[in-house]
Amino acid sequence: MTAARRSTAVLMVALALALAAPASTAGDDPLLRVVNRDLHFARQQLRRTLVEVPAGAYPQETGPDGRWTTTGPGRWTSGFLAGSLWLMYQASGDPSWSRAAGARQAGLAGEQSNRSTHDLGFILFDSFGKGYRLTAADSYRRVVLGAARSVASRYRRSVRAIRSWNNPPRTPRSDFRVVIDSLMNLDLLFWASQHGGGHRLASKARKHALRTARVQVRPNGSTYHLVIYNGRTGAVKRRTTAQGYRSSSTWSRGQAWALYGFGTAYADTRVARMLEAARRTADYFVSHLPADRVPYWDFNAPGIPHEPRDSSAAAIAASGLLQLSQLESDPDRAERYLATAREILSSLSSKRYLAAGTASRSILLHGTADRPSGHYNTGLIYGDYYFIEALLRYREITTGV
Ligand code: GLY
Repeated sequence: MTAARRSTAVLMVALALALAAPASTAGDDPLLRVVNRDLHFARQQLRRTLVEVPAGAYPQETGPDGRWTTTGPGRWTSGFLAGSLWLMYQASGDPSWSRAAGARQAGLAGEQSNRSTHDLGFILFDSFGKGYRLTAADSYRRVVLGAARSVASRYRRSVRAIRSWNNPPRTPRSDFRVVIDSLMNLDLLFWASQHGGGHRLASKARKHALRTARVQVRPNGSTYHLVIYNGRTGAVKRRTTAQGYRSSSTWSRGQAWALYGFGTAYADTRVARMLEAARRTADYFVSHLPADRVPYWDFNAPGIPHEPRDSSAAAIAASGLLQLSQLESDPDRAERYLATAREILSSLSSKRYLAAGTASRSILLHGTADRPSGHYNTGLIYGDYYFIEALLRYREITTGV
């Protein structure tokens, strides 16, 4: 072993021992220092992004030179820069972050009437929704209500679900596609229902979550990415995948969306079946993680351990597990979810996954957007967003602020 490797190994062991010990007070918790250092780095990266990426362009993933590639406002990823800026405002109270967030979300407002996508929760609730909760600006609330109505317009009574993807060309008109990611767009509807949108929004979200729990979660707690229903009868036609390895495998980000999305649906409704779905999907995720706690892009990818990781799945799961640890009535489970979130955050904060000292404009390295279409091993704007959210959740849980 070289001296450098030996010192890395010693550091890893020291960190593991420190993390294994219960934090008697927040001041004793070594992960908190790491969290604060990560947040400092996140601020630097976001400031650089604000300088390099013009308003009206929305960062998505990093290219080979480390710079962001960008999209227009309609892509599901367009709200995450503004969302990250709102998180920084939440953490610091510094108005320069809220000004930047407001400027970066302004070009997204028109998406509220986009009925051709189910992703308005990602696009507008993580931006305008978060902004409303921090500033109470009524114009933001109205954008969120418009978005919720647009998503709800995709609900089909026969399926008891909201259409996720539109049908590709040359597929039967009766097909009705639902992806596991859709769970993350439901909080928008539950919230809008409580803030002037009417009870039907919540009712549709609740039916969608329950149908997804029944159809898309396997008996062992793993999930199908994509289910195609017959939109006329509501019958399940096919359970399959698009971004995963194969129909019977488990796409790791989809599993992270599931544990996070069912947890949020439980927080919104207190329906026990949603907690049960959150537990089952979380337990699968936790018990199938590799040693460094960052999943491969698919839990059943054929070339493991030589497959790409997905740091975004790890970040989403860490944030979702922290949420679940606070919702849990069973103290053993709550402790297990919190402990796993700590391990994930610690690993993502290591040199292997944190972009500090590299040319990347992202905060995390080694994200996989879509392995089958060749998008892997990059920074991802949503991986960064959920990483910041998880850091703040961890800090709040351990210190109360
Ligand atoms: N559409 C969400 C995802 O790719 O994870």
